[in-house]
Amino acid sequence: MSSRESWVSNVGFVLASIGSAAGLGNIWRFPWLTAGNGGSAFLVVYLLIVVGVGVPGLLAEFVLGRRGRQTPIGALRALVSSRWGSALGTFNVLTTLVILSFYSVVGGWILHYALVSPTGAYFGQPQQYFGTASYGLQAVGFHLLFLGIVATIVFFGVSSGIERASKVMLPAVVVLLVALAGWTATQPNTAAGYAFYLRFDAEYLAANFPSVLGPAAGQALFTLSVGSGAMLTYASYLDETASLPRDTLVIAVSNTFIGVLAGLVVIPLLFSQGIDPGQGGPGALFVALPPAFASLPGGTVVATAFFGTVLLAAVTSGINLLETPVATLVDVFDVPRRRATLLVSVLLAATGSGLALAGPIFQFVSGTLADLLLTVGLFAFVVIVGWLLGPEALAEFRAGSGRFDPLAESWLLTVSWVLPVVVLFSLTNTLASLAG
Ligand code: PFF
Repeated sequence: MSSRESWVSNVGFVLASIGSAAGLGNIWRFPWLTAGNGGSAFLVVYLLIVVGVGVPGLLAEFVLGRRGRQTPIGALRALVSSRWGSALGTFNVLTTLVILSFYSVVGGWILHYALVSPTGAYFGQPQQYFGTASYGLQAVGFHLLFLGIVATIVFFGVSSGIERASKVMLPAVVVLLVALAGWTATQPNTAAGYAFYLRFDAEYLAANFPSVLGPAAGQALFTLSVGSGAMLTYASYLDETASLPRDTLVIAVSNTFIGVLAGLVVIPLLFSQGIDPGQGGPGALFVALPPAFASLPGGTVVATAFFGTVLLAAVTSGINLLETPVATLVDVFDVPRRRATLLVSVLLAATGSGLALAGPIFQFVSGTLADLLLTVGLFAFVVIVGWLLGPEALAEFRAGSGRFDPLAESWLLTVSWVLPVVVLFSLTNTLASLAG
């Protein structure tokens, strides 16, 4: 077999993985989910799940990737040594295709808004503007453009494409978000927003406890990119010198920081206009935010910076999702990378266009199906790591782990006992809410 690609440096892997994690989930989904589920009360549950489930789960996915040194199908086939491994790998690759199909549509909306923000085109009648932009031929066009950007990066490969792009784009996202959060803090009438976001409302939490669990768990997995095999693929380009536990922590902390930062921009801005962000739902960014931009000095500049930032964040997540099926064609079928990129992109152009034309299906795929697929994927990962690999997984944890070494046993215990139960619970919850 030809030699596989790899990261130039561990920093490149970490930046690319933070880039994957920090995306539309943090900026588009997180603020309205948080606002719609009791503000800080949701935030607390979400953070607990990130720490208790997301972090050990992501680490398990990284362990599978680096141990297998292959994309999901090849890695799991080798590690599980049965047909079930390839079947699960195939399920993972399909998951990335499903997620990218809708992700690219939303990415297209963002690209559209970034391009027209300098003119303030949507400031006047945001609701109508979003109505025309969100589904239909415009949405198809911008979805294709967004996909084109993502595909161009993947086309150039792991180190010259993905690693290089992430090293520029992710720091840019952080700098821009900090600047936007600083600007937001200088705006009038934002106090209510900060209070809502950051004040812990124990009563709300008590009253809504089981029902915030489902969305909080779904969001925790989605935001960390856990359960789809996309992170597994990134870890497959690592060698044994990287400390997987350390990298996982850095990635999770940075991703949470970026999510909270995005909330510090979006939520106070909405409150400054007297808009309840929980009402906006998936359209919050596009419908509820424009009046804020329109009424503030320098609104077009801020709007451009804002949607530009979201665009960069979305692209660095999109490349992880596209890399997984592309690298699978390379690994399993020996298709040259450039041809593989083209083939997968043509497929996604079609599936994404379908979603851009069919609103109700889009809603189902982006809301429920994505979370469901990730939950099933993660369940399989933790069972394999905890129950099938066991000592082999410990060895992989320990390779390069340095001072995290003493945590290996408790991590494996968590993965074997806690995670399957919690993930299964969240899965049945989601399925029950689907049926009901
Ligand atoms: N973590 C990304 C976000 O929050 O926008 C979305 C995502 C990327 C989910 C990659 C799953 C994945 F495999």
